[in-house]
Amino acid sequence: MSTLEVRIEEPVTFVISGASGDLTRRKLIPALYTLFKEGALAGDFAIVGFARRDYDNHSFCKLMADALREHSRTTADEPSLKAFCSHLSYHRGDLSDPAAYTGLKAKFDDGALPQNRLFYLSIASELIESTVTGLRNAGLITPPDSNPWTRVVVEKPFGRDLPSAKALNRMLLDHLDETQIYRIDHYLGKETVQNILSFRFANTIFEPVFNRSYVDHIQITAAETVGMESGRGAFYDQTGALRDMVVNHLFQLLCLVTMEPPDGLDARSIRNEKMKILRTLKPANASKHHPAVCFGQYGGDEKTAAFRAEERVSPQSKTETFAALRMEIGNWRWAGVPVYLRTGKRLAKKTTEIAIQFKTPPLSLFQHVACRGDVCDLTGVKPNTLIFRIQPDEGIFLQVSAKRPSMQMVVESVNMDFSYSGKWDKALPEAYERLLLDAMRGDSTLFTRSDEVEAEWEVLDAVLAGAPESEPFVYAPGSWGPAEADAILFSNGWKNE
Ligand code: BG6
Repeated sequence: MSTLEVRIEEPVTFVISGASGDLTRRKLIPALYTLFKEGALAGDFAIVGFARRDYDNHSFCKLMADALREHSRTTADEPSLKAFCSHLSYHRGDLSDPAAYTGLKAKFDDGALPQNRLFYLSIASELIESTVTGLRNAGLITPPDSNPWTRVVVEKPFGRDLPSAKALNRMLLDHLDETQIYRIDHYLGKETVQNILSFRFANTIFEPVFNRSYVDHIQITAAETVGMESGRGAFYDQTGALRDMVVNHLFQLLCLVTMEPPDGLDARSIRNEKMKILRTLKPANASKHHPAVCFGQYGGDEKTAAFRAEERVSPQSKTETFAALRMEIGNWRWAGVPVYLRTGKRLAKKTTEIAIQFKTPPLSLFQHVACRGDVCDLTGVKPNTLIFRIQPDEGIFLQVSAKRPSMQMVVESVNMDFSYSGKWDKALPEAYERLLLDAMRGDSTLFTRSDEVEAEWEVLDAVLAGAPESEPFVYAPGSWGPAEADAILFSNGWKNE
């Protein structure tokens, strides 16, 4: 058994289309290397880097070994790097040239590569069609349910609105069966994200209070301190926070924390429940004083370039680098409970968390205090809050009120904590390790189905339809976003921590 408890015995070839990109160096190769080192790739396996750059097997291996020394979470020791490199090769070709695919097919036909094939499309969305068509025309795609199998992993963005997402799905489904398509959303591979389901449905004490009778509101935050590192300016200027983070990662978190219990843990049951949430999700009713949407863009200071001054970003850019939304779920369980979403670049700290704030008790019997050491001030009632901390310091925290030791009957908010690092000394697996392993095993539970993607865009279109025409509000780098977002985010008493 591998140290990851799961291993693949089948032979498999993992082809990375667009292998010269940053994702290959930072995420894909490090994830494959860890799977290899931990014994999860137990059968015959080959990794083929496919791109236009002028590398050969030797220079590609060298480049990947350097990437592993920099990015691998498991030790990149020389003997294992050498062993890993013996599975790597490079196929040079232009992704829009049919000859590149016939050349690749010849390598499969020669028997040089294991026949089961997983194509990872780490490419710009404009290239997806020519790549999938190239694979199909060269005979590289085997029929669904056949042996050897073919699977294609598609990276986001899956389109930029509903019509383009539909067109992309139609094109993919012209060449492949839905069961062969793995749309990756790396948030679903995060250990703590999967723990949302086990926490909710493996315990009896929380589920009965996860509804509109007990929950006041839900807040989902994905804050980042980074800006446009790794030359991402051009991509991000075209994309923005809504399309980069909200329509996929944040909506997926929202679904997992609010969906009904699934019939089972199989892909179909879980995706069906997420779909029911997406069908009823919409921006909350807005008024002039209580908006539902606010966009921001980071300005600069003496140390940090403003978004508009970043490399390959238009100096007149109106792209949002911050978004705050007030959403509602129109189903029986959640009707009337606001769900606040917030994400942004260059914010005060890197944190991703889901906070479920419960209603306050019907009668306030106690005085509530907040204390620093022995100095205490009276505060309002502190409601119970359950926090799923996705990253960093992964864990689950429940804030409750407890009597403060003193001669007076006063209560103070305290934490009941479960932290991964406190319970297990093992490092958490990287999202990509889990997802690549699942794709190679043919488990699509943690990937997004075509109808989910379309439903996500439908919700986003509704958000955009109600969004203000005005330019995004400028916010200071290192802050929590524009002050104008407070009217959305803090109307229920939430505070930045
Ligand atoms: C990616 C976005 O999907 O997620 C990036 O394209 C973002 O802009 C990243 O930085 C955040 O991922 P994580 O795992 O660091 O929260």
